Amino acid sequence: MLSALSVAEKARYIASPNPMVGAVIVKDNQIIGTGFTHKPGCDHAEIDAIKNVYKKFKNEASQKLNNSSIYVTLEPCSKQGRTPACTRAIIEEGIKEIYIGSKDPLQKGIEELKKAGLTVKSGLLEDKCNEFNRGFFSRIERQRPFVTCKIACSEDGGIGLTTGGDKWITSKKSREDVHKLRAASDAILTGVGTVLADNPRLTVRDKALSKLEGEIHPRRYVLDSSLRMKGNEHLLTDGLGTTIFCNDLKKVSYNKPPIKIIEAASESKRVSLQKVMDYLNKEECNTLMIEAGSKINTSFIASELIDEIIFYIAPVKLGKDRINFSEFESSFSKIGTIDLELKEISEIGPDKKLITKPVYS
Ligand SMILES: NC(=O)c1ccc[n+]([C@@H]2O[C@H](COP(=O)([O-])OP(=O)(O)OC[C@H]3O[C@@H](n4cnc5c(N)ncnc54)[C@H](OP(=O)(O)O)[C@@H]3O)[C@@H](O)[C@H]2O)c1
Repeated sequence: MLSALSVAEKARYIASPNPMVGAVIVKDNQIIGTGFTHKPGCDHAEIDAIKNVYKKFKNEASQKLNNSSIYVTLEPCSKQGRTPACTRAIIEEGIKEIYIGSKDPLQKGIEELKKAGLTVKSGLLEDKCNEFNRGFFSRIERQRPFVTCKIACSEDGGIGLTTGGDKWITSKKSREDVHKLRAASDAILTGVGTVLADNPRLTVRDKALSKLEGEIHPRRYVLDSSLRMKGNEHLLTDGLGTTIFCNDLKKVSYNKPPIKIIEAASESKRVSLQKVMDYLNKEECNTLMIEAGSKINTSFIASELIDEIIFYIAPVKLGKDRINFSEFESSFSKIGTIDLELKEISEIGPDKKLITKPVYS
């Protein structure tokens, strides 16, 4: 199953909204084929692995597959979607054993394979497999994406200066890492405060990743209560499209494709985060990354909508003129009354990267 998980890595930037799955086929203690989920509408991991056995063993493939075992990180699909059901291919090829990591609440693969007489064992490395598809499971079970908030800051928690000035706080290496996070996210969200201050592009600029199949740039969303953007910002002019959520729809010159404006009013006169989440859910968004300023970070934390905060901390102090990463009293272990559980810490060039999980209750 560990091999299947490592093959599943290849699906990371391309599978969504489908789950990222890896499959390994074994015969006589030898791996005879591996596969992963390709872009939507193309092969799922099981089919890819079977096809790879055919590529490798040609005329003998059928015989190799007969009575083999397959390890898959997620329960195979039993319903015909954009592609035929994977259970059918597994049964037709005479595979006799299947080892499954996570169960898929949308499928009846386990039931169907058992009925066909296969030996089915599920729950192998289940926690790891569930974690791997946390975005997919979040959308299916909570009807909202898994939300990661990225914060690039100084040692004293500053994400910028009230006096304006330098755009970058963290090193080039950290910023390159952020491009990988962006590529692994279905969508990226920011606030009008950040757009007006920094005019960001929020695209993926990474040579290796841009060679992958499918669309690599995440969808972009801006919360702009009263449509304060002017129309000449990169997000509105680079042709890649941006969806803007506002509180009160008014006439603006840039309201034409690929720009979309959606009214998502709340009583606070700011954009309703619940309506944003509902919209993202309808768009089958599994993972959302927030790259915004203090105000958006604060609203999302207060609404308990952030699942993970990733800090890139540069070895500098911004001092008294800094803008804190949230409007709550905050540190890297606690934001207001919310604890931050430290999941991982690493060094990226001169910076530190902290992966933390807010504990809300
Ligand atoms: N270092 C980093 O990681 C990083 C990343 C991004 C930004 N920044 C810095 O952050 C600063 C900007 O911070 P900011 O707080 O002004 O900008 P922001 O958080 O990006 O945007 C805030 C604005 O979003 C709008 N908004 C709409 N709905 C909202 C809601 N439900 N909750 C909160 N806001 C909502 C509001 O506009 P209205 O006021 O019109 O209602 C609000 O003023 C800049 O200095 C920028 O450089 C740093």
